[in-house]
Amino acid sequence: MAGYVVVGCQWGDEGKGKIVDYLAKKMDYVVRFQGGNNAGHTIVVDGKKIVLHLLPSGILSKSAECVIASGVVIDPFVLLKEMDTLRNNGVDVEHLRISDRAHLIMPYHIKLDGLQEMKLGGAKIGTTKRGIGPCYADKYTRIGLRVGDLIDFDYFKERLANVLKIKNELLVKIYDERPYELDELLEMFKPIREKLLPYIINSSEELNIAAAQNKDILFEGAQANMLDIDYGSYPYVTSSNPTIGGVIAGAAIAPRSIKYIIGVCKAYSTRVGEGPFITELFDEDGEKISSLGAEYGATTGRKRRCGWLDLVVVKQAAQINGLTDIALTKIDILSAFDEIKVCIAYKRKDGEIIHSIPSTIAGYEGLEPVYKIFKGWKKDISDVKTFEALPSECQKYIKYIEKFTGVQVSMVSVGPDREHNIYLHDIIA
Ligand code: GDP
Ligand code: IMO
Ligand code: MG
Repeated sequence: MAGYVVVGCQWGDEGKGKIVDYLAKKMDYVVRFQGGNNAGHTIVVDGKKIVLHLLPSGILSKSAECVIASGVVIDPFVLLKEMDTLRNNGVDVEHLRISDRAHLIMPYHIKLDGLQEMKLGGAKIGTTKRGIGPCYADKYTRIGLRVGDLIDFDYFKERLANVLKIKNELLVKIYDERPYELDELLEMFKPIREKLLPYIINSSEELNIAAAQNKDILFEGAQANMLDIDYGSYPYVTSSNPTIGGVIAGAAIAPRSIKYIIGVCKAYSTRVGEGPFITELFDEDGEKISSLGAEYGATTGRKRRCGWLDLVVVKQAAQINGLTDIALTKIDILSAFDEIKVCIAYKRKDGEIIHSIPSTIAGYEGLEPVYKIFKGWKKDISDVKTFEALPSECQKYIKYIEKFTGVQVSMVSVGPDREHNIYLHDIIA
């Protein structure tokens, strides 16, 4: 048995969905452990694109049980719609399980996400406006509602009535908005409850029993280290820990059962929303990455900001997650460039070189990337199946990433489809 973790190494959208879908074939369980429908994980099967926001990317693999664990925040309306869409496309979703302890994103969370962003004006985070931050905030102030609360609807009603007093006061007095009616929300949640009940379980119990029975379990991260609430570019982050600690807290799995921690790293960088991005490109190269990589958000459709690979960021991902492997994605997009830059440090205005991520936004002020320049390979590599068959310039690029991060690149993805992969080391034991 082994526990596998897949996490993003940058600002999200590295191609985690594709890598999870590949690994899922061999898994008994695929588990989402944090985040919510701010995530957009794309899987391409025979040229057909499927974007998942809440369902684990293992859902397409019938052999794996799929679990939405306690650390996830669930918009039940989005979840049920996603399940229906898959059913209508002939995908079985009955192997889904939902933790009784996962928090519910309520309509007022979505409303408040938008209102807070509006109030922040120029200082906005650029959130996905899916209610993620307000829902996690309520979890930690202990006025959240959980999936398991729906089981006894009278209990749900009682808790919601208490919480609404606080939420409505905030909406009316601070934001000059209309309050929510208890009955209106209860009417919305009655049919939701009926539909969710069959899927609710105690997920940590089920997963630990599975681990004891030597099952293979894959934990699918959303977002990435630079969006981590503690280690990202705070406050331009999401409201959870997309890094390894999020697995332990969010799925309550014994740490010793985790054997492989796979970081998904895009061969260049992208970021959606506001916040610092040292290697961001505002020139033709940036536009080229954007158009060739089709870099538009899978959740909000926003244009992703693009730039060269920042290895300081990836090294931080390697350290804080304890990565055992890297899956390098979208390297095919770099085939169009004469030269390719990689950021290996940052330079302050006074000339001092720094090698780590600043802890404040003020600390990013005036930082310039220090680049190492690689010669491009200028050849289509999307049909290449082995490392040896890659152009030597491309091999050098990959080897440098390994050397800099101290983590082996076990898989290189050269296209969006399931078949577009090169395997260097066996990730699956
Ligand atoms: P995730 O959020 O980390 O799962 O990533 P997204 O799905 O948001 O974004 C990754 C995008 O890149 C998707 O459209 C994928 O289909 C696509 N993709 C993944 N790997 C590759 C690759 O190796 N090459 C190319 N060209 N596209 C890829
Ligand atoms: P996947 O799983 C890229 C970004 C938002 C915003 C910030 C906070 O597809 O990699 P939030 O709605 O979470 O409060 O927004 O985080 N963000 C993502 N960016 N990929 C994601 O997920 C993201 N999830 C959140 O754009 O900047
Ligand atoms: Mg995404």
